[in-house]
Amino acid sequence: MEVKVVLLTGGSSGIGAATAHLLANAGMKVYAGSRRGAIDAPQEGIVPVVLDINDEALTQKVVADIVAAEGHLDAVVCNAGNGIYGPVEGASDEEVRSQFETTFFGNLKTIQACLPVFRRQGHGRIITVGSVMSILQLPYQAFYSAAKAALLSVTQSLAMELQGTGIQCCCILPGDVSTGFTAARKKTLAAQEPDSPYRERMAKNLKQIEKDELGGMAPAAIGRHILRQLRRKHMSVRVVPRLDYKFVAFLIRICPTKLALRILGALYN
Ligand SMILES: NC(=O)c1ccc[n+]([C@@H]2O[C@H](COP(=O)([O-])OP(=O)(O)OC[C@H]3O[C@@H](n4cnc5c(N)ncnc54)[C@H](OP(=O)(O)O)[C@@H]3O)[C@@H](O)[C@H]2O)c1
Repeated sequence: MEVKVVLLTGGSSGIGAATAHLLANAGMKVYAGSRRGAIDAPQEGIVPVVLDINDEALTQKVVADIVAAEGHLDAVVCNAGNGIYGPVEGASDEEVRSQFETTFFGNLKTIQACLPVFRRQGHGRIITVGSVMSILQLPYQAFYSAAKAALLSVTQSLAMELQGTGIQCCCILPGDVSTGFTAARKKTLAAQEPDSPYRERMAKNLKQIEKDELGGMAPAAIGRHILRQLRRKHMSVRVVPRLDYKFVAFLIRICPTKLALRILGALYN
């Protein structure tokens, strides 16, 4: 079934905006949802929509409106997300929940809003944007990693639950990508504590991860993987873009955990 109509979340900037342009250039109609409901460089084929994925009623309405306007919805790309930064010690429940709110629950609710439509149609594609941090953990981003691991886990369980239905699932796990994500990352209160025992290590770590992200892939590189999956007859379930990150993912799988954490800790702590 050719993908013609797509709902994409987090479509106002970064990976989402770049993906919206690539899909529209490939002839798809893209409903690009975000709280701002806007996109840089608007173009034909992209319909920016106001969508806060933490508002369940609004998410369901957006899906219903698309189906009413188009007659069908072929794919959803769950890309919206954010990051918090800080040590596990001293993180408040509220801060941890805020990390899961959009990055996990919002995307989950978006998938759940689309599933009855896909089931009725007998086809549909679900792409979630996880992170390499879905499969590898770094210090001071424990809750981001946990939320992205949860998203990957749900995507893979869903892939099994939907076997034989015509609905396919794929999780894309990008490494570092140069977007506004870096500037938007919020520090927890514990991370801002002047007497924090982690202060020096965090300063070194943050400098490193910001440098890696800002020197990372262009957002369109991830968009191309999303487009490729949407065009394939059978989507992959898990995609790690770029060879070096694929190699890291492979090493994480075969390396004893204690050794992997020692190496990553030495590099990032
Ligand atoms: N940048 C990286 O290095 C990297 C690496 C791996 C994975 N990722 C993942 O890639 C995805 C996109 O991030 P990005 O790098 O492109 O960052 P970005 O430019 O900050 O994009 C985040 C997008 O999410 C939207 N958003 C945030 N909260 C939302 C909500 N509640 N409802 C709807 N939309 C919401 C934002 O738009 P509004 O503010 O207008 O709502 C924005 O369009 C995220 O899931 C991120 O975790 C990024």
